Amino acid sequence: MLSSDIRYIGVDDIDIDLFEGQYMVPAGMSYNSYVILDEKVAVTDTVDLRKVDGFLANLAAALDGRKPDYLIVHHVEPDHASSLQRFLDVYPDVTVVGNVKTFQLLENYFALGSTARLVVKEGDTLPLGKHTLQFVTAPMVHWPEVMMSYESTEKVLFSADAFGKFGARAAEEPWDDEARRYYLNIVGKYGPQVQAVLKKAAGLDIQTICPLHGPELDETIPHVLDLYQKWSTYTPEIEDGVFIAYASLHGNTALAAERLAEIIDGKISGDVLLADLARDDSAEALSCAFQYKRVVLAASTYNAGLMPFMDDFLHHLKAKNWQNHVVGLIENGSWAPMAAKTMKAELEGVKNITVVEPVVSIRGAVKEADLASLNALADAILA
Ligand SMILES: Cc1cc2nc3c(=O)[nH]c(=O)nc-3n(C[C@H](O)[C@H](O)[C@H](O)COP(=O)(O)O)c2cc1C
Ligand SMILES: [Fe+2]
Ligand SMILES: [Fe+2]
Repeated sequence: MLSSDIRYIGVDDIDIDLFEGQYMVPAGMSYNSYVILDEKVAVTDTVDLRKVDGFLANLAAALDGRKPDYLIVHHVEPDHASSLQRFLDVYPDVTVVGNVKTFQLLENYFALGSTARLVVKEGDTLPLGKHTLQFVTAPMVHWPEVMMSYESTEKVLFSADAFGKFGARAAEEPWDDEARRYYLNIVGKYGPQVQAVLKKAAGLDIQTICPLHGPELDETIPHVLDLYQKWSTYTPEIEDGVFIAYASLHGNTALAAERLAEIIDGKISGDVLLADLARDDSAEALSCAFQYKRVVLAASTYNAGLMPFMDDFLHHLKAKNWQNHVVGLIENGSWAPMAAKTMKAELEGVKNITVVEPVVSIRGAVKEADLASLNALADAILA
């Protein structure tokens, strides 16, 4: 329970295979919803339809016979709003609260018919009694209709998808890594929009953040804001460390990546992290590529281009506005290596990327001369 008046009524989803149809969530996912019990009763968002029964049971228990006056829809994406119809079936007299875009998008999923609506805009307030909600629009964090609301009596920010994380609440795992993987993959592209919301939030006295996924945040708010500041400005967190991502057909490029990791490990105190783009979680690899200032990309040549997993990885990085990194390249090819040239071409136009020399070009197995080149690459990427 958050307070006697603001209660958590969300649900954990631990049998979901992939979140948003693509992200591995080994610790599950939570869909958060809250009820504010005052003279008027407001519910913030619903949950994914997968878990609607648990949600409605939690809500009924918290209401203890009362009926909600308002359902505030901060975000229309189905992980939060797909239970709307089921909610309306039980509480047909509720007033749905959203902005103009909220209702436009809701109509894509539901026929709202005669359901009562309250259309709000930036800065509008909704008095509930002792509590008052003030609406803060947050377009493209993560959809165009997204809004947050600030409850001024208990100083709570209902922050929509922002400040969420992968992982069920029951998992109680550390926040940073799964919040980073969640943010960079899901919202990463929209750094400037997140910046705009952070500026608005700076004007509010926030004691608790209630995101739509993961735990509420209170004493860690300064730390969390600091991370969001970095993530939304594409500022790498780790300078003293190297992330090496490889895509290898027959294992020789993988071996070169491992050799490079060993060489670098002998030169620095920071971490050297390796990812096999074919086998490891690509969302985690993307998250690491943002986190580390220094990134090495190693790939086999494949049909005069790149092994597809590296191609895909570069495509994803660019789609999320990846920028501000020092990059080393390793290629492998048996007859006409093309991987480095292709990676360089892919990186053209990516903001503030420095590709260091030498680019290591290997033909088949890693040989003595390649080790010298890898050593030179290690020095260059660390310089
Ligand atoms: C389907 C396929 C396509 C390939 N295309 C090329 C190519 O266009 N040019 C080249 O030099 N090597 C090509 N190769 C060879 C690989 O790049 C070669 O095996 C290289 O040593 C890769 O190192 P690895 O052991 O990390 O996969 C290809 C290999 C396969 C299996
Ligand atoms: Fe979302
Ligand atoms: Fe969400």
